[in-house]
Amino acid sequence: MAGNPSILVIHGPNLNLLGSREPDVYGRVTLAEIDAGLAAEAKELDCELESFQSNHEGELIDRIQQAIGSVDGVLINPGGLTHSSVSLRDALAATALPIVEVHLSNVFAREPFRHHSFVSGIAVGVISGLGARGYGVGLEALLAHIRA
Ligand code: DQA
Repeated sequence: MAGNPSILVIHGPNLNLLGSREPDVYGRVTLAEIDAGLAAEAKELDCELESFQSNHEGELIDRIQQAIGSVDGVLINPGGLTHSSVSLRDALAATALPIVEVHLSNVFAREPFRHHSFVSGIAVGVISGLGARGYGVGLEALLAHIRA
């Protein structure tokens, strides 16, 4: 890592609807507000940051593959793919980059099918249930891990 670390933020399916989607579960903060907050925090923490959202598994995988050799870590909320996608996990593992997994809701307090994550086993850590605040916490922890 020469210069400031570079972080890729990945938002999975349906997270483009944040703000209006099941607000009792996910809160009223929009994805644009989350990305703006992360951009401001990145500036303070001296890192480069790029955010990407898609509702399509293949597009997410393509973007993650592009990260190989070009970023230092990945902050990801895989949305529902958390619980279903071996391919997304494989793409993340192929990067060999440090991964932090974030969920707005506490997936362990929800339906049993949300209790298993294909990503957690290859993540440095998992943040679940802290709402939008979890992204900032996750970014800080990922940077600390990279800089350690
Ligand atoms: C989520 C939790 C997932 O179970 C769900 O499918 C989502 C959002 C969260 O941020 O709490 O889309 O990842």
